[in-house]
Amino acid sequence: MSNIIILGAQWGDEGKGKVVDLFSERFDIVARYQGGHNAGHTVRIGDRKFVLKLIPSGILRPGRKSVIGNGLVVDPAALVSEIEMLEAAGLQVDGNLFVSNRAQVVLPTHRLMEKLSEARPGRVSIGTTSRGIGPCYEDKIGRRGIRMGDLLDREVFEPLFDTLEAEHQAAARALGLADGLEDKGVRAEYLRLAERIRPMVCDTARLLNDAIAAGQSVMFEGAQGTMLDIDHGTYPFVTSSSASAGGASTGTGVPPTRIHGIVGVSKAYITRVGAGPFVTEALDSWGDQIRTRGNEFGSVTGRPRRCGWFDVPLARYSAMINGFDSLVVTKLDVLDEMEKIPVCVAYRSGRKEVTEMPATIKEMERLEPVYECLPGWRVSTFGISSYSELPPLARGYLDFLEKQTGVEVGCISTGPERNQTIVRPGTHFARLFP
Ligand code: GDP
Ligand code: IMO
Ligand code: MG
Repeated sequence: MSNIIILGAQWGDEGKGKVVDLFSERFDIVARYQGGHNAGHTVRIGDRKFVLKLIPSGILRPGRKSVIGNGLVVDPAALVSEIEMLEAAGLQVDGNLFVSNRAQVVLPTHRLMEKLSEARPGRVSIGTTSRGIGPCYEDKIGRRGIRMGDLLDREVFEPLFDTLEAEHQAAARALGLADGLEDKGVRAEYLRLAERIRPMVCDTARLLNDAIAAGQSVMFEGAQGTMLDIDHGTYPFVTSSSASAGGASTGTGVPPTRIHGIVGVSKAYITRVGAGPFVTEALDSWGDQIRTRGNEFGSVTGRPRRCGWFDVPLARYSAMINGFDSLVVTKLDVLDEMEKIPVCVAYRSGRKEVTEMPATIKEMERLEPVYECLPGWRVSTFGISSYSELPPLARGYLDFLEKQTGVEVGCISTGPERNQTIVRPGTHFARLFP
C-alpha cells in the first residue's frame, strides 16, 4: 500500500476534509504536516457535521491512527477543545491521536502579536484568521519557540514561557498597546492542558517511519492550499507554513523516498478568504451565485469567501510545484445552474501573454484573465456517483480542465457526503486508491 499526500491545489477550502475522510479508510495512519487551527476541514457523515481544525480528518475512522506532525503549530486550548468535541460525539481519541514532541506551541500573546501586525500603519494587512499562527511560526524560525516536548517539562517550560511572554508584551507596549497585557494565569492553564495532552505526545517521526517499515500506509493531509504556501503562494498574502507537497516531508519526518503519490484537490471554480490578488475573481452576481450555491463562507471565521472562475495557469503552476499525479475536482454540483462557465486559460498583462506565475504582487495585480466560455449543463449533478451518469456537458467541462491543466481528473465530488463521489475507472487515482 502506498503513502499518499492529499493537499489543496488552490487557496484552501477545496474540500480536503471530505476527500481525506472518504479515503482515510484505506490507510492505517492520517498525518497532518503543517498549519494549525487556522484550518477548517468539514466532514459530513449523514446528518452529522464535523469541522476539524487541528486534528486530522482520519480521527473520524475508528481504528485509524491520527498524527499531528512536527510541522504544526498547536494551541493547547484549541487542541483540548477539539478532543472534547470529538469525545462528546462518541469518538475514541485517546490511543488514536499522536502529537509530535517537536510541534510548536501557540501562546495567547501570539494572537496579540498578530493583531498588532495586522493593524500597524505601513504593514500589509493579510486578513489572517487571528489564531496566532504567523507569529508562532516566526518564533519557531527565530529559534525562540516553545515545543510540545518543552511544554511537558515544567522546569523547562516555565522560564521559556516567561521569557517569550515578556518579549511579546514588551513589543506590544513599544507599539503603543497598553491594555490586555496582564497574564491571567496563562502559564498555569497551559501546564494544566499539558496533562491532558501528555499521553499523546511522542516522537511522531519515529512512529510514522516504524509504521511504514512495518508495511503500514500513511495518508498526509494538507491544510490551506498551494497558493497560501509561504514560499510558492501569493506572498505576502499567504499563511506561514509549507502547505505544498514538500512540506509533507519536513512537517512529519517521513523522507520523500517513502512517499508514492500526490493528489491535488481543486474546486470546479475557485475561492479565497482574506486579502491578496485574485485574477479570476467574479465580483458580479455570478460570484454571488457561486457563494450562495456553494455556501462559501469560512468554516473557521465565517467570513464570506471571495469566489471566481477556474484558473488554469494557477492550476498548472500548482501542479508543477506539487507534482500532482491526479486531481480531485470538488463541488461540481455548485455549477449546475450556470448557463455559461468561464474558465481562465491564460493571463495577459497589457498586450503581453504571461506564461509564468509572477513572483510579485505588483505583477500579479496587472494580470488580466483570458476566458474561454464553456456551455453549462443545467441539470443536477448533485450526488452522482458514477462518471457515465454525468451529463455530457459536465464531462466536457472536466475533460477541458484535464487537457488544459495537463493533470488527469481522477475523482469528482458532487456533494458533501462520502457517497457523493465519483472515482474514474482506469485512472492513476483509481490505482492509488484501490
Ligand atoms: P477544506 O478546508 O479543504 O477541508 O474545505 P472546507 O471544509 O473548508 O470547505 C469545503 C465545503 O464544501 C464544506 O462545507 C464541505 O462540506 C463542502 N463540500 C465538499 N465537497 C463538496 C461537493 O462536492 N459539493 C458540495 N456542494 N459541497 C461540498
Ligand atoms: P483550510 O485548511 C482558506 C488564509 C487566511 C489569510 C491567510 C493567512 O481550511 O483550507 P493565517 O491565519 O493562516 O496566518 O492567515 O491564509 N487561510 C485560509 N484560507 N482555508 C484555510 O484553511 C486557511 N488558513 C488560512 O484567510 O488570508
Ligand atoms: Mg477549510
